Amino acid sequence: MTRKSWTPGRVNLIGEWIDFNGGHVLPAALPLGVTVVLSARDDGVDHVCSVQFSGYQSALLDAPKSGGWADYVFGALQAARQEGWIEGGWSARLSSDIPPGAGVSSSAAVTVGVLRAAAGEAVDATRIAVLARKVENDFIGMPCGIMDQMAVAHAGPGEALGLNTRNLEFERLALPGRWQFIIIHSGVERQLAEGRYKQRRDSCLLAANKLGVEYLCDARAIDGLPDDILPLVRHVVSEECRTVSSMSALRKQDIETFGSLMSASHASLRDDFGVSTLEVDTLVADALRLGAKGARMTGAGFGGCIVALLEQDASPDWWPQLSKRHPRARFVARIAASP
Ligand code: GLA
Repeated sequence: MTRKSWTPGRVNLIGEWIDFNGGHVLPAALPLGVTVVLSARDDGVDHVCSVQFSGYQSALLDAPKSGGWADYVFGALQAARQEGWIEGGWSARLSSDIPPGAGVSSSAAVTVGVLRAAAGEAVDATRIAVLARKVENDFIGMPCGIMDQMAVAHAGPGEALGLNTRNLEFERLALPGRWQFIIIHSGVERQLAEGRYKQRRDSCLLAANKLGVEYLCDARAIDGLPDDILPLVRHVVSEECRTVSSMSALRKQDIETFGSLMSASHASLRDDFGVSTLEVDTLVADALRLGAKGARMTGAGFGGCIVALLEQDASPDWWPQLSKRHPRARFVARIAASP
């Protein structure tokens, strides 16, 4: 018996580091994705192979994680068995064109993809996303929020998903006609991302606790806060305002406002939240100087990708000029309104 799925990567247009702080986020699907093919086995083991990596890995049905990328698949297969969607051992064959470790959700696409293939069409995409996050939190030990899993489970071409991460309600917002978002990898692979992610997340939870709010996005009267938490809280509270404003700018197709909110988001992640890098800052600054209407780092940061907003008839020199100044940078994808 064989089951198959395709799941995209995502780019977050705005709303960074607020998906576990009770905020709104605005991700969109990439045209890149992962194909998962599952086939039932009769020898009581799970088995994973990938077109991109040679060799394969196998694991007993209830084995703990072993530290490699295949853990995302083993964890998802175990979760699918607990849900009763599959029984016994399965082979998973993966093929992906999403760059790994670049902040565009290659791992969420794998967990959601495996669960989706195992569950079949009848299971609601939000239920899959919530379970995929649980696999990352509990099996992998990555304390991520819900943005990536919801984005890759729900978002389609030509739209962004305005997601309320508190109640998982979302609005599909059409991407603006005549404009495009370009995703560029800085060439800086993310380093120690998981440890630093947990540190930042714990600091946010601690700050919310100190301020007596359930979610840090709800913090008010922040000006007199002590210096050790002020910048962090300022980022979270201001990013939530920017994201809600950018959703209304998108509804009105007000691109100037949308672009300046993207750039303000980058400045806040760089100066207050401290998750950008020098290379990424320079790439964003040059993207703007060469004509982008807005640009920012995307995803958790510490390297990885930027997203830039350009007119569709922007100068064809934009990317050649940018890549000349940043030889390590790589073009990842372009997204735009559906024709
Ligand atoms: C990673 C996490 C998400 C989110 C972003 C930052 O992608 O998986 O849950 O927190 O970082 O916005």
